[in-house]
Order: sequence, then C-alpha cells, then structure tokens
Amino acid sequence: MSKTIAICNQKGGVGKTTTAVNLAACFAVFEKKTLLIDIDPQANTSQSVGINETQEEDIYEALVLTENPEEATIERLSQIIKPAAPECKLELLNILPSSPGLAKLEIELVNAMNRERRLQRLIKAVEVNYEYIIIDAPPSLNLLTINTLTAANSVVIPVQCEYFSLQGVAELLNTIKLVQNNLNTDLKIDGALLTMYDSRNSLSRLVAEEVRKNFPGKVFNTVIPRNVKLAEAPSHGKPILLYDIQSAGSQAYMKFAEEILEIANG
Ligand SMILES: Nc1ncnc2c1ncn2[C@@H]1O[C@H](COP(=O)(O)OP(=O)(O)OP(=O)(O)O)[C@@H](O)[C@H]1O
Ligand SMILES: [Mg+2]
Repeated sequence: MSKTIAICNQKGGVGKTTTAVNLAACFAVFEKKTLLIDIDPQANTSQSVGINETQEEDIYEALVLTENPEEATIERLSQIIKPAAPECKLELLNILPSSPGLAKLEIELVNAMNRERRLQRLIKAVEVNYEYIIIDAPPSLNLLTINTLTAANSVVIPVQCEYFSLQGVAELLNTIKLVQNNLNTDLKIDGALLTMYDSRNSLSRLVAEEVRKNFPGKVFNTVIPRNVKLAEAPSHGKPILLYDIQSAGSQAYMKFAEEILEIANG
C-alpha cells in the first residue's frame, strides 16, 4: 500500500516546496517508487525538477478528469504524469506537474460535486504504481489545500526559524481538525519540520524552542539548516542530492527522509 504525505503550511516561503522536492528525491534514491504532486499554481515544484511550463496537460486537466471517475483511469492519468526532466534523472521519481492555469480550478469547483475529494480520487486511481506520494500544497487554506489534506495519510508542517513563523499555525491545526472530523478521519500529523535554521542566530534557537513547546513530541529531530545550495538547486532544475550531495542541505534532507521512513514503517 502506498503512503501519501502532504507538505502543508498556509504561510508563504517557509520551505514547503524545498521539502517536498527533496524528500521525494531522497525516497527515489532510497529505491522507493515515488510520485511528487504539485498542487500549487506557482508550479515551483515542477520547475525544481526541471519541468517548465509546457503546452502539455498537467494537474489541472487531471483534476478536471476526476469529475467522472470512469474517465479518470490509471491509463489516462498516467499520460499526464511525467518522469522528472533529464537533468534530474531519478528513475523512480515521477511528477504530476502544475502551471498557473490551475488557479482557475478553484473557481470552477465552487459548486461542483465532491469538490473536496478530487485529488483523493486521482490518487486512488494511480497509487498502485507508487510506494510514496508527496504533495506540495499552496500557501493558502483554500480548496486545493482541503483537497490535499483530504487525500493524504499524513501531514508534515515546515516551520521557518523566523520571528512570525508560528503565526497562523493555530489556524492550520484547526483546518486539519475540520478535515479529520469531516473528510478524512485517518489523517495524521507526522510533525513540524524546522527549516532554514541558522545556529549562529539566537532568534533561530528561540523559535526552535517555541515550536517544540507548541508541538510537544511532534517536532522532527532533523533540523534543516539555512544552506545556500538548497536555494541554488532549483535554478538548475535539480533536487539538492543531484546538485551537491556533500552539502549540509543534502545531508539534512537525507536524515529527514530516514526519519519519515521510520515513522511510516513503525
Ligand atoms: N534550508 C534552506 N536554506 C536556504 N534557502 C532555503 C531553504 N529552504 C528554502 N529556501 C529558499 O527559500 C525560498 C522559499 O522556499 P520554498 O519555495 O521552499 O518555500 P514555500 O513554502 O514552498 O513557498 P510558497 O509558500 O511560496 O510556496 C526559496 O527561494 C528557497 O530556495
Ligand atoms: Mg512552494
């Protein structure tokens, strides 16, 4: 059975995309068949694995297809799912890309039947092909995020080690609770992941302490350091492992992936 992990936080720029891309790449390197789903119209995840806007179909068309489960077959959806770009060649990594056009789906779905369950349907149709499915959510608590939380088995919440980073976390936890009560009773919180940590900066240490207070027992041991290589890698269309395997960012995401695998298996 496959496991679906959502990377969620409605706060912008906290490291969701960096975490989704690099976690998925680590899984692929660990020989797990992995699907990375970009459900953010910004399409940063797609660009980070070398897929730039094309005229081809993407997650928008895939989600439109799910209106009618008979049309959303594994064969049809597999035509939309792609291998990562050649420069990011990881045999076991596939991507369901996004593009700015996805933004219109939000409006189109307002009165649609099963509007919260479209991504769940999509994943159910293709999950036999994968061990892990990682979803990069957009920076908002909109219908795309509700679809993400409804489709997932668990959530990882990246929290940036900066002053305002805990703002909005209560709202996110409320949304998760609403989804657990109404749409996805089995949804679990895997934990909060501290990102962009700078050990020379006392604010980083303070925020880390504050996050540990807010999520008792639910903060990953791995802390992602601020590392310029992590910021550079997307411009080369590569996950950090393929850009600079020795970097602190690479080592941290590998440790994080191991921690997630322990949770999944334990
Ligand atoms: N550990 C890190 N060290 C250095 N830079 C980082 C790190 N993590 C992320 N960044 C950079 O910070 C910026 C925001 O990161 P990212 O795009 O992953 O956040 P996000 O939460 O997905 O943003 P959005 O809310 O817009 O989707 C990017 O430029 C990224 O390259
Ligand atoms: Mg992002």
